[in-house]
Amino acid sequence: MSTGSRFDGKTVVVTGAASGIGRAAALAFASEGGIVYAADIDATGLAATAAASNGEIRTQVTDVTRTEDIRALMDRAGAETGGIDVVFNNAGAGGDRATIDQIEPAGWDRTMDLLLRSVAFGIRYAVPHMTGRSGGAIINTSSVAAVGPGYSPTAYAVAKAGVLHLTKVAAADLAKHGIRVAAVQPGFINTNIFTSALDITGEAETTAKAVIAQMSQHAQPVARGGQADDIAQAVLFLASEAAGFVNGTSLIVDGGLTIGPRHSWDPASPGIFEMLEKFAPQNPGK
Ligand code: NAI
Repeated sequence: MSTGSRFDGKTVVVTGAASGIGRAAALAFASEGGIVYAADIDATGLAATAAASNGEIRTQVTDVTRTEDIRALMDRAGAETGGIDVVFNNAGAGGDRATIDQIEPAGWDRTMDLLLRSVAFGIRYAVPHMTGRSGGAIINTSSVAAVGPGYSPTAYAVAKAGVLHLTKVAAADLAKHGIRVAAVQPGFINTNIFTSALDITGEAETTAKAVIAQMSQHAQPVARGGQADDIAQAVLFLASEAAGFVNGTSLIVDGGLTIGPRHSWDPASPGIFEMLEKFAPQNPGK
């Protein structure tokens, strides 16, 4: 989907651009004229993203848990183009899956470094290249997992809630530079994140992806699965001039997942009563 050339000549940095949401965003920004710096730890995936675009995508292998990598990425984008206009801090993975009564310090730290510290330093090292330009926007990927427990593992949920608050404090800190900061909260989006989290590969991966695709259609009131491009389009809006007064806030893009289940309107998508009726068919509702 293209809505014009909103990012003509703008320098855009996207992390996690080898797959899923980051890839979709990199392609969308490039299709609207952006000079996109696509970053990821996955060099092969990055090359595939660049190859899929007719626009300008420059790749840089970057581990967002390494602040020196983030700094090198922002410095390169700034030096080559004269400054950065948009940053999408998006790279991520499922993180440690232990519950709070089981988690060990190393797993906690790894998850926070990947999902929260990376965003802080994605902002920190971009800002020197964003000042003195006309505006600028930073978009951070949070999650519906920040809304409440139950959507993700514990450390992931806490990190994503941290991203929301970081977005607010950064928006306040950076308003003096004319930089806006916003977050996006994806719902259940059909990407590689689930099979990667469980290290599912080969034939099992194909099967698992089919199951995920099926599940994602029933996860929310909107009667289809969420796609990476659904999030990319929201991110492009938040980064665009049309969102010039949107600051320090977050946009939930979840097909209604957090307002309620699909069975509220779709009898084919069973809710608790429909499921229980299987066990008590002789006892019609009172
Ligand atoms: P994905 O697995 O398709 O893409 C994530 C990308 O991040 C991959 O290319 C991966 O190589 C990269 N990455 C992982 N660790 C990295 C590191 N240390 N340095 C640089 N790159 C790294 O997953 P998806 O879904 O596109 O995830 C993107 C963001 O969206 C993540 O922050 C995730 O937590 C968030 N999210 C995803 C949801 C979903 O349902 N797919 C829901 C809510 C949030």
